[in-house]
Amino acid sequence: MAILVTGGAGYIGSHTCVELLNAGYEVVVLDNLSNSSEKSLERVKELTGKDLVFYKGDILDREILERIFAEQKIDSCIHFAGLKAVGESVEKPWQYYNNNISGTLTLVDEMRRHGCKNIIFSSSSTVYGTPEKVPVTEETPKGVCTNPYGWTKHMLEQILSDVQKADPEWNVILLRYFNPIGAHKSGKIGENPNGIPNNLMPYITQVAVGKLEKLGVFGDDYDTPDGTGVRDYIHVVDLAVGHVKALKKIEEKAGLCIYNLGTGVGYSVLDIVKSFEEATGIKIPYEIKPRRAGDIAMNYANAEKAERELGWKAENGIREMCADSWNWQKNNPNGFED
Ligand code: NAD
Ligand code: UFG
Repeated sequence: MAILVTGGAGYIGSHTCVELLNAGYEVVVLDNLSNSSEKSLERVKELTGKDLVFYKGDILDREILERIFAEQKIDSCIHFAGLKAVGESVEKPWQYYNNNISGTLTLVDEMRRHGCKNIIFSSSSTVYGTPEKVPVTEETPKGVCTNPYGWTKHMLEQILSDVQKADPEWNVILLRYFNPIGAHKSGKIGENPNGIPNNLMPYITQVAVGKLEKLGVFGDDYDTPDGTGVRDYIHVVDLAVGHVKALKKIEEKAGLCIYNLGTGVGYSVLDIVKSFEEATGIKIPYEIKPRRAGDIAMNYANAEKAERELGWKAENGIREMCADSWNWQKNNPNGFED
């Protein structure tokens, strides 16, 4: 039995492939490499000593999906493939809705046609919008998103829930990730953003490696302990392990399930700068900048449901997240191009 991992060459996908192979699953990856390198999959094989099957192609392409389902015995799909840059989604809404929504509709239709009705979907804490109180539980109402990327997650959660409701043979697990950072301990795979990073940790590591001069801190006047934005950062390997646990849940019959994957702890931007400096001994120069449009003051998870129902809990603390992000960046200053 094999697991189809769409977007498996990407940041979270490649770490999940490692955990799946280590847990004894067969892995089939479908990725169009629009935001990743095939080299990540070579590293996954190196790290695990195991093989996987790679199809270079698009989730919008029915022909390649037909081929995969004809050639492989796919039991479940872990669906990471999607565009994820918040700012770009505001500039290119059609591309985001087409890639993420039409792509998922095509994938789900081909799954259904081939009798594969198990899907784990990469959702995001962004579906909570601006929560009235934190930590958020899975019962916290979904909110108003501030950009098309967020709406694709919001809408796809609804679409997949409706698919499961109409046909209870489906198992749909929606995983709401908080802020993934860190990298595999080996430093062989990690986050490899295109151009100047939008997200905090890759920006910090690029300052540390000397590619960028200093960090801009987006706002210090939020209603948070030090005025800077608070988020729930989670180690990407913990997140990857959460997917293996979700597969076990599907094997026992899940129906429709929603889980927050976070640590339950919020850190401010300045906490992260300080933790990074302590973990690495490298000073991160920064300056306070205006707030970034669309940012919220504070969000962190109540992740007790995942612990109760999946037996999953994040193991790594902020120091390890910082050390592992840095280990990846310093060993691969140009990502997979070295
Ligand atoms: P990523 O960009 O590293 O990985 C996504 C992968 O999907 C890439 O390898 C890309 O080439 C591939 N892809 C994109 N469109 C495709 C298509 N049409 N067909 C085939 N492949 C396609 O991103 P990531 O950080 O690993 O995120 C994985 C998933 O998790 C995404 O759906 C993302 O929205 C979601 N997510 C990420 C975060 C985060 O902060 N990283 C937070 C919440 C949710
Ligand atoms: N920040 C800075 N300077 C930077 C980058 C970020 O101060 O250069 C701040 C932000 O203002 C925010 C915090 O650092 O307070 C985290 O910002 P990120 O961009 O790293 O993460 P976000 O919480 O804004 O969003 C990310 C993804 C979303 C996803 C969300 C939850 O970009 O797609 O996490 O998973 F939905």
